[in-house]
Amino acid sequence: MMQRDNIDRAMAIMETAFDPQWGEAWNRRQLEASLAVPGTHLLLANQAGGIAELDEEAVGFTLSRSVAGEEELLLIAVVPEYRNRGIGSSILSLFLKQATSRGIGVIFLEMRANNTAKSLYKKYGFVPIGRRKDYYKTAEGSRLDAITFSLTI
Ligand SMILES: CC(C)(COP(=O)(O)OP(=O)(O)OC[C@H]1O[C@@H](n2cnc3c(N)ncnc32)[C@H](O)[C@@H]1OP(=O)(O)O)[C@@H](O)C(=O)NCCC(=O)NCCS
Repeated sequence: MMQRDNIDRAMAIMETAFDPQWGEAWNRRQLEASLAVPGTHLLLANQAGGIAELDEEAVGFTLSRSVAGEEELLLIAVVPEYRNRGIGSSILSLFLKQATSRGIGVIFLEMRANNTAKSLYKKYGFVPIGRRKDYYKTAEGSRLDAITFSLTI
């Protein structure tokens, strides 16, 4: 029940946060399937960058999956009208704190090469460790590399 509410809240953010030209947004079916896998974590952020209580509006989220002491940050998003005021930073830092308390030692993420989120990841100490050539296909059909980042915590 609560899980379904949280899926609704995350999907509402998903629909405005991702520019369709990059094809990065997940649909509801993908999000539901992901959350059914053990070790998948959805964190919802309120307007102050804290964890959104059930009665609070959620304006950002992280989605991650942990396996054997490693965790992948699958998605991070903040709705456009609440950007550039530290909510993305704040939710990323809450995510890192929770991952640490789960005993995670290393975080991975993958990002399209031209994403401005890069500066956010670098601020938290993520380092680029690999590049997958032409991994993403844009709406216009051109290709973009994916960069893999890792952070040891
Ligand atoms: C990435 C994202 C979550 C950042 O959220 P945010 O709330 O704007 O983040 P913050 O306000 O905490 O800014 C974090 C840092 O990102 C950088 N940043 C934010 N907006 C930026 C912009 N428009 N251009 C360049 N850098 C930017 C800054 O370095 C900032 O650091 P600072 O606080 O030292 O200035 C948000 O832009 C987003 O939802 N983007 C679309 C979804 C996406 O592409 N997610 C990543 C791949 S899954």
